[in-house]
Amino acid sequence: MKPIHSKGDILFRKPVLSDGAAVHDLIRRSPPLDLNSAYAYFLLCEHFADTSMVCLDAEGVIGFISAYFPPGRRDTLFVWQVAVDARQRGKRLAPMMLASLLARPECRHVRFLETTITPDNRASNRLFERFAADHGADIDSEAFIAGEQLGAGHPSEMLRRVGPLDAPLAKAS
Ligand SMILES: CC(C)(COP(=O)(O)OP(=O)(O)OC[C@H]1O[C@@H](n2cnc3c(N)ncnc32)[C@H](O)[C@@H]1OP(=O)(O)O)[C@@H](O)C(=O)NCCC(=O)NCCS
Repeated sequence: MKPIHSKGDILFRKPVLSDGAAVHDLIRRSPPLDLNSAYAYFLLCEHFADTSMVCLDAEGVIGFISAYFPPGRRDTLFVWQVAVDARQRGKRLAPMMLASLLARPECRHVRFLETTITPDNRASNRLFERFAADHGADIDSEAFIAGEQLGAGHPSEMLRRVGPLDAPLAKAS
């Protein structure tokens, strides 16, 4: 598998099936993200590779984005989980992963970015607010899933929608 691009010693590429265990471990180490089953991450790496991203250093996977096109809405990329290894945070790896993902030909129809965030997740809110500002796009916020519905003391998830993005960010295939 060729990297999509690299920055220094860090490679950015589509995930492959064999990344599943490392991605599962990264999410386990990245509260407040919900940890899904290892099986779910293997499926994401295999079936959603075109819209997901890993970045790696010499020690392995240090960043991950899972995302997909909601059924029937190919102009919208729904970003499910974003994680950067704690020792690599604050170096803009998450925005670089997002930019690299959106530059793929598979994302050429994307005009909106959606994600859900708990209101207290400052780093995550900053990531998407900065992305919107960098692209001169609006960012809206609306209730999505209430904490009581999620149960187990889970905070509410707000839907944040960025867009419209003026021009396709992807390079033509
Ligand atoms: C959210 C996250 C993916 C951002 O990744 P990142 O590569 O550190 O992103 P950035 O470098 O752009 O930093 C994002 C913000 O975190 C802040 N930050 C800086 N250093 C940090 C550190 N060591 N630890 C946490 N946050 C830090 C930055 O100040 C930045 O805010 P700013 O834009 O006001 O400067 C990462 O913090 C993370 O994995 N968090 C745990 C999982 C999570 O909450 N995921 C998001 C849910 S979708």
